Amino acid sequence: MDPRSAIIPKRMESVRRIIAVAAGKGGVGKSSIACGLALALHDLGYGVGLLDLDFYGPSAHVILGVREDIRPQEEYGILPPTVDGIKFMSLVYYASEHPVPLRGLDLTNALIELLAITCWGPLDFLIIDMPPGLGEATLDLIRLLPRAEFLVVTTPSRVALATVRKLIELLKQQRVSLLGVLLNMQHADSSSLVISLEVPLLEALPFDPQWEAALGDRARLVRTLVYGRLREVAQKIQKIII
Ligand SMILES: Nc1ncnc2c1ncn2[C@@H]1O[C@H](COP(=O)(O)OP(=O)(O)O)[C@@H](O)[C@H]1O
Ligand SMILES: [Mg+2]
Repeated sequence: MDPRSAIIPKRMESVRRIIAVAAGKGGVGKSSIACGLALALHDLGYGVGLLDLDFYGPSAHVILGVREDIRPQEEYGILPPTVDGIKFMSLVYYASEHPVPLRGLDLTNALIELLAITCWGPLDFLIIDMPPGLGEATLDLIRLLPRAEFLVVTTPSRVALATVRKLIELLKQQRVSLLGVLLNMQHADSSSLVISLEVPLLEALPFDPQWEAALGDRARLVRTLVYGRLREVAQKIQKIII
């Protein structure tokens, strides 16, 4: 057995709940929702961490506006820097804005390494911004952190719904906890499309042009419609007992 995998549950010992924000596709709003939800839970008074596991397309640092001079500290592991009250960990601290050409086992190793070295300390919620789809990282996460609860994001597009259906089927097969579906960039009457997924619709979020303009600026992000809905999501999540 890889000794690092054995360390991971120890590292997560003081983390009360782990929430993976996942989707079948890219571009549906996973990172926006992961960041907005982390801010909303922090605003409700919880201790929150955010881990960007989208190694190929990391975005959480852009949405939160993480300054380039912010670095993790080493102390028998890595201490994630606190950004807007949220402990934030990402491979971008090491890779900067360069591509990370990881394949197969190398990707799994990077994921294990990040989970094994990060010292989160006590947290109420660790939010994980997942890469799109049902690939290596999703399967690794289910294996390494089986208690992670999944929040599934989709848009009303039939293309997004078709892939999210597969993701939900996989999560059910793997007996993963499913918190529910968030319908992002909703348009009139699209909520009914989610019924066919047979997973509760937690919330629908409108398309909000203010969101893109607010990226990187916490003060503006929290004034958007999307953030308002994510506060409601945070309130619902705190009441869900899996
Ligand atoms: N509800 C929304 N309203 C307006 N723009 C949004 C909304 N959700 C996401 N976006 C925008 O859509 C794009 C993709 O979002 P992102 O969170 O990066 O998706 P993913 O992580 O699934 O690839 C970004 O430009 C983001 O600002
Ligand atoms: Mg993303």
